[in-house]
Amino acid sequence: MTEPPDLILRGIGELVTNDPARPEGGLLGIVQGAGVAILGGRVAWAGPLRDLPDEYFDLPDLDCAGRTVLPGFVDSHTHLVFAGERGQEFTRRLAGESYESILAAGDGIQATVRATRRAIRATAAAGLVESARLRAERMLAHGTTTVEIKSGYGLDVPTELRMLEAASAIGKLVPIDTVGTVLGAHVVPPEFADDREGYLRLVEEEMVPLLAPLARYCDVFCDRGAFTVAEARHVLEAGKRYSLKPRVHAEQLAPTGAALMAAGVGAVSADHLDHIDAEGAAALAAAGTVATLLPAASFSMGTPQAPARILWDAGATVAIATDCNPGTSFVESMQFVVALAALEMGLSPAEALWAATRGGALALEEPDKGWIGQGSTADLVILDAPSYVHIPYRPGSNLVWKVVKDGIVVVGGEVGGVA
Ligand code: NIG
Ligand code: FE
Repeated sequence: MTEPPDLILRGIGELVTNDPARPEGGLLGIVQGAGVAILGGRVAWAGPLRDLPDEYFDLPDLDCAGRTVLPGFVDSHTHLVFAGERGQEFTRRLAGESYESILAAGDGIQATVRATRRAIRATAAAGLVESARLRAERMLAHGTTTVEIKSGYGLDVPTELRMLEAASAIGKLVPIDTVGTVLGAHVVPPEFADDREGYLRLVEEEMVPLLAPLARYCDVFCDRGAFTVAEARHVLEAGKRYSLKPRVHAEQLAPTGAALMAAGVGAVSADHLDHIDAEGAAALAAAGTVATLLPAASFSMGTPQAPARILWDAGATVAIATDCNPGTSFVESMQFVVALAALEMGLSPAEALWAATRGGALALEEPDKGWIGQGSTADLVILDAPSYVHIPYRPGSNLVWKVVKDGIVVVGGEVGGVA
């Protein structure tokens, strides 16, 4: 492990701190003409450069030349580990077939399950790790410094285990933090087609106990054509007994009441929420369950976006994430997700950026991430742009100049020694 060098970023044109102690800087706690001092991988000081304390004056410096600095993106919902791809299914959907009919006919998620099981048989975890590593490298190059990764394409004990092993391997191969989630209850695999209770028993009694040490969370795809609210609640309660906190795929395809259930079980996050109503939004806000919205999934599916405004205005904590997966959202860039949230979902550019950084950190219970100030993790993105507003203003371009992870420049450059 490389020791992080001490470092000062000078010449920051616009610094996004997300620090509520800077109300004059608005929601994003913006400071103009700023500097950030980093010691031992943490932020020691951030503020207007003219106020820089003497003790940091002689640190090795990185001149940002008027660029924008923001907290590293926290991508709090992905299915990054999988084998194969589903380009043909994408074409069929564009021609009018529905996601649900493709799934009901044994393709969709089941096609990725077949490919993932095959890959594990052929190369153990090696092939899965390599393809996910490349995706993680691209995420990092676009400014993501923490990524949640779900299982859910194994649907048998050994393959689910390999998926989560692959997920944690990524965090050692790429300078990106990973957080694992058990998603054994994604769909019922074909060998249990006539025995869904038997499959749920397998998830609760074998998968969850065995996979718990590799994960922080337990998730369920609770939706029409997947698991019911009652089934999902049962799985999430089983997860809790093994210290896995709940998160839920809720109300993506149909209104089901899954958001109320998520609030009721104390889920850390309820995700998708395309069909949530005002009652569900109020319940999430009251329970402190983060509403994680996935605008790239609705965009790729050609369906209406989640009612982000209702959630934000109800007082819910809103996060946005890529949902990177081969079926509904083959998207790796959080910058693109911010653009969609602002252009298609009704969040302001500032709200969208907050949701992609601080919101994501709260959705993964990472209090030191998603903001920049004394004591925060030194995970920073330097944008080659004069303002964060350029992210939604210039969708589709990678505006990253450098990425700093734990105080080390890991993308774009020499400072800190790791290119
Ligand atoms: O979050 N909706 C369920 N799971 C994924 C899609 C998985 C797939 O189609 O492979 C999602 O959209
Ligand atoms: Fe998902």
